[in-house]
Amino acid sequence: MTADWAPGSWASKPIKQDVPYKDNEGVRAALAKLQTLPPLVTTQEIVSLKKSLKNVALGKAFVLQGGDCAELFDYCNQDMIEAKVKLLLQMSLVLIWGANRPVVRIARIAGQFAKPRSSPMEVVNGVEIPSFRGDNINGFAADPESRRPDPSRLVSAYFHSAATLNYIRASLSSGLADLHSPLDWGLGHVITPSIKEKYEQIVGRVKDALRFMHTVGIDTDRGVETVEIYTSHEGLSLEYEQSLTRLLKTPSPTRPSDPTPSSTQPPRASYFATSAHFLWIGDRTRQLDGAHVEFFRGIANPIGIKIGPSMAPDELVRILDVVNPSREIGKVTLISRYGAKKIAAHLPAQIAAVQASGHIPVWQCDPMHGNTQSTPTGVKTRHFSDILSELHQALEIHRAAGSFLGGMHLELTGEAVTECVGGAGGLTEEGLSERYTTFCDPRLNEKQALELAFLVAGFYRDMDEADAVL
Ligand code: PEP
Ligand code: CO
Repeated sequence: MTADWAPGSWASKPIKQDVPYKDNEGVRAALAKLQTLPPLVTTQEIVSLKKSLKNVALGKAFVLQGGDCAELFDYCNQDMIEAKVKLLLQMSLVLIWGANRPVVRIARIAGQFAKPRSSPMEVVNGVEIPSFRGDNINGFAADPESRRPDPSRLVSAYFHSAATLNYIRASLSSGLADLHSPLDWGLGHVITPSIKEKYEQIVGRVKDALRFMHTVGIDTDRGVETVEIYTSHEGLSLEYEQSLTRLLKTPSPTRPSDPTPSSTQPPRASYFATSAHFLWIGDRTRQLDGAHVEFFRGIANPIGIKIGPSMAPDELVRILDVVNPSREIGKVTLISRYGAKKIAAHLPAQIAAVQASGHIPVWQCDPMHGNTQSTPTGVKTRHFSDILSELHQALEIHRAAGSFLGGMHLELTGEAVTECVGGAGGLTEEGLSERYTTFCDPRLNEKQALELAFLVAGFYRDMDEADAVL
């Protein structure tokens, strides 16, 4: 356990993006309720994700993280959850083939409600009202009453997360991810023929491999029938996270069925954030002396830190020293999000500083948040070509530095939305208004996300082939 730390020690530190609740009694009641509710995830699951991320940090696996920018309580329905899970499964199958490594899947789901905002107020129809801060804080409807922070939404956030997670778990344990039927994951009615054909080729190869395994009798393992999908969100609302942080025994590596304990040491207890398997600190709340870094330094979960162009290399190393003093490999995922035009100027120095420090994090590229722009009519969008370019540059920069780009972090949805321009479907700025439904940042639709997975898989294949020639 971390000295001088408690789940509530963040409260004495300066905080950014704080929510100005007026109803103190309501806050107290909501947090008291949350403290009595069961963890949403278990320590066994958290520790197993941490182990997988260690493999990513060491270059032996790849991590795919994706989901909505802002999840809404209304997204907690069968169709939307299934669409997102199926898309992540399809993308990961493509990436396993391309990167030739196991893929760790982390969804931005079952808790990705809170949003940091550049301004606490906004002007709508000439009236200044508080900004929408996410469904767990206030309502989207543009009137002052709906925008008032309502602490009971924190409890609703828990129950919507629980229902979402329950359906993900139930679907996976009922065979949704069975590798014998990846064509049943549905390719959507609008998929371009070339993507469909490439995907079917990969599926064909997977089926051949499974047939072979069956022939030689090694397909009895449950490994091909289901997979893990871990949950994640930005740990922005510290009141909420604190209420779900529990002192729990760290599971021993011994399997429950194994009667011989691997060690005579009593199991250690650690503080685990139990709202999700993986939490990250956003680019706006990563101040070294701030409340968020204070909270994150005490939890045993694997954590992420977003790093944008304003992060200095030495500052990055100091944050790593604070949140991971024991230098656990893969405990921290550095999520770089500079933008296609800025990555070349920033990433090499960040990698060099981290390498010199001796920390071994997971390096992940978020090609979304540095590439947001507005159309002449004021619609927020992102260009597929910028997203792809930042990913490609990240891969090359890591390779040149002897480092490994272990994953990507995407804002995506399983729906056929029109929010990002470009991709094989050729969505134009004029087409954006057709199905623009995000409540925050523009997301890749299912077609664009799968196409991106193919292109990134191709980059890894090319890189591995080039390395093999060397
Ligand atoms: C996000 O991931 O939705 C987000 C707000 O990112 P960042 O902190 O990188 O701006
Ligand atoms: Co976003």
